[in-house]
Amino acid sequence: MKIQIINGPNLNLLGVREKSIYGNTGFESYLEDLRKQYPLVQIDYYQSNVEGELINKLHDVGFSFDGVVLNAGAYTHTSVAIADAIAAITTPVIEVHISNVYKREEFRHHSMLAASCKGVIAGFGLESYRLGIESFII
Ligand code: DQA
Repeated sequence: MKIQIINGPNLNLLGVREKSIYGNTGFESYLEDLRKQYPLVQIDYYQSNVEGELINKLHDVGFSFDGVVLNAGAYTHTSVAIADAIAAITTPVIEVHISNVYKREEFRHHSMLAASCKGVIAGFGLESYRLGIESFII
């Protein structure tokens, strides 16, 4: 099984950025644990702060991988182009968020992407990514 994790803008700063919301752990070290927990799953990782690069990655994997776990960061709330990319590919996409976006500012309550995704997971810290992977296995 091949799963692609995609992180969008500012998520390269996990472990550094707004720790009270996003925690102390950098994504690379979480990813090491995740790969150990799922030795039979190929887990690829990509991060970009650039909207078009996120779209290119969705196109790259979106006809061959078994699943995409996508945290599009703030683009979640704004990007018609990423929503269109998710709708265009055949690989199912799970939208994930580290924080519970519904507990936060109102502009974070709406997702442009959710309607094109298989499901949405929010509010479980970095474990949101593991739950996303788990959803492709069950
Ligand atoms: C986020 C929530 C978004 O609203 C925010 O812009 C992020 C991170 C999360 O993982 O909780 O960058 O997607």
